[in-house]
Amino acid sequence: TKKEVVFSAIQPSGTITLGNYLGAVRNWVTMQNEYDCIYALADLHTITVRQTPAVMRKNIIDAYASIMACGIDVEKSLFFIQSHVHTHAELAWALSCYTQFGELSRMTQFKDKSAKHADNINAGLFTYPVLMAADILLYQADKVPVGADQKQHIEITRNIAERFNGIYGNVFKIPDGFIPKNGARVMSLQDPTRKMSKSDENVNGCVHLLDTPEVIMKKFKRAVTDSEAKVRYAEGKDGVNNLMAIYSAVTGLSYEQIEKDFDGKGYGDFKTAVGEAVVEELRPIRERYEKLVADKAYLESCYRKADEIALKISSRTMGKVMKKIGF
Ligand code: ADP
Ligand code: NA
Repeated sequence: TKKEVVFSAIQPSGTITLGNYLGAVRNWVTMQNEYDCIYALADLHTITVRQTPAVMRKNIIDAYASIMACGIDVEKSLFFIQSHVHTHAELAWALSCYTQFGELSRMTQFKDKSAKHADNINAGLFTYPVLMAADILLYQADKVPVGADQKQHIEITRNIAERFNGIYGNVFKIPDGFIPKNGARVMSLQDPTRKMSKSDENVNGCVHLLDTPEVIMKKFKRAVTDSEAKVRYAEGKDGVNNLMAIYSAVTGLSYEQIEKDFDGKGYGDFKTAVGEAVVEELRPIRERYEKLVADKAYLESCYRKADEIALKISSRTMGKVMKKIGF
């Protein structure tokens, strides 16, 4: 029997973070056995914000190697680079003519991003949900793993696909969004009311996959907590809750067990334990990453092969779309 197709993508807009890993990439690895997985490095999306060419070039390769190092098996899954596959931009254009200004205006992420980049509110920033829809629909994906913050994107993808199918017949599979079972939401270590993000202005708030053990320990030791000095999961204890979520995600321990283990101990001990657990989780990833980036030819052979297969699969959908429209 044919496995269901899962599609997911991540932007190489900087180095991969602990949040990206625990919230997304680690699940990508797990899903490889259950599904037919198609993963993309969504580099076309990054230019909605101004990039420095040389930095961007390096980020793309680093992100590709980092994600492979997390355990993406290119023999099992398709892992390609979006900008190398021209059908993405093509379908995005076509679909943009089947997407309403009003529905794009209602995207909360556009409102957030245009507030953050007020000096460059470009049309790409406005229409990028259409590119995202194209990414997914090109591969006739059954399922798209999403974070809670991305529900609106899968909704608009379904709406665009249903509208197109309504006019032309069944061209696109309507994808379902699903929230993976063990997808942790990781908050900034310095402001635990905000998600951990590459773009955090406070460098100590964000742990990167390739941070050295020393840097990781330093960041956890400086993590914001509270004055109660008791390791327990409770409302109002955002900093401690976040550390517990990270610790639980990495060790598999339940919150109850963590509370028991750290009963009577201070935050210092707890932060050290969380830091050490993260260091151990990331150590093999870092080692695999070092090997991969040292062999650029092998890395390139991996993505070239995937790019070619992605182009072949997506061209089937693109060809159908063009024909249906009347080209
Ligand atoms: P970033 O916000 O770091 O730029 P992206 O927007 O590229 O990350 O998101 C890539 C993937 O990583 C998405 O699936 C998103 O849900 C997930 N992700 C990003 N940040 C976090 C976080 N702090 N906690 C959990 N998952 C996250
Ligand atoms: Na983001």
